[in-house]
Amino acid sequence: MRGFSISVDSASLRPAAAALEMAGQEPAAADLAIKVRDLVVGFDRQLVMNGLDLDVYKGEVLGFVGASGMGKSVLMRTILGLIPKRRGTIEVFGSDLDHLSPDGRARIEQRFGVMFQQGALFSGLTVKQNTQVPLREHLKISDRLADELAMLKIALVGLKPDAADKYPAELSGGMIKRAALARALALDPELVFLDEPTSGLDPIGAAEFDELIATLQKTLGLTVFMVTHDLDSLHSICDRVAALADGKVIASGPIAAMLACDHPWVRSYFQGERARRFDSAGNGASGKP
Ligand SMILES: Nc1ncnc2c1ncn2[C@@H]1O[C@H](COP(=O)(O)OP(=O)(O)O)[C@@H](O)[C@H]1O
Ligand SMILES: [Mg+2]
Repeated sequence: MRGFSISVDSASLRPAAAALEMAGQEPAAADLAIKVRDLVVGFDRQLVMNGLDLDVYKGEVLGFVGASGMGKSVLMRTILGLIPKRRGTIEVFGSDLDHLSPDGRARIEQRFGVMFQQGALFSGLTVKQNTQVPLREHLKISDRLADELAMLKIALVGLKPDAADKYPAELSGGMIKRAALARALALDPELVFLDEPTSGLDPIGAAEFDELIATLQKTLGLTVFMVTHDLDSLHSICDRVAALADGKVIASGPIAAMLACDHPWVRSYFQGERARRFDSAGNGASGKP
């Protein structure tokens, strides 16, 4: 299925033909935050990943799309080491995760921030305590410093200080997402994994959250791997998109390349009914910036 792959080495919108010429070229290791090759993941007799290759470039926002149940969350969790793989290699920042000592692995993990699907906050912990979970896990710091750092992250994601002592059940959907993002940013990560960060938000809340992600990505120089169903997000904040089907990345590239891709799922996703409100310049008609 590599014939559909459209690899592009930067966020710039190359003409699809030029991008196609580059297909099959190996990107330089130094440019990659994540490099996955020939990944196979399954549960019992169900194969979810079946020889998947994926590149995520340093400093980019990669939007990861695919039909529901295709394995987007499974891929994210496999890269994070939460689901075992059957075959293949996963390199993060140039290190093969299989070849790291427990210490080396912990050092790499400190460079990750993760926001799981549905926010996944601990319901028995306040926003501040949730934000402190990665700090407590990885750092030996005083309570006072942990409080200061948590309050900093809470402000960074646009929550008011009085949200810090609230429990998840007392928060709106948008506040839960922001709190989950504060927790993901707790350790000043370089690489952030977001699993459907805007799902469940109304369009205005989703647009605000996209803007927050875009601002943080630029100011903190983050690399972002974002699973999303949201065409608005793909158009407004993603540098490149990778599409998952049948256990593989069947197409990858900037939106322009996805629009030129003739894989049936990619075509129906990007040029189907919901996509029609986007004009050919990639501007949404939803009033988003
Ligand atoms: N821990 C698990 N055990 C068994 N099957 C799983 C597990 N996690 C996910 N799956 C299955 O893997 C497939 C992909 O799931 P998922 O990655 O959650 O899809 P999505 O693309 O919607 O995020 C689904 O068929 C799901 O049922
Ligand atoms: Mg999912």
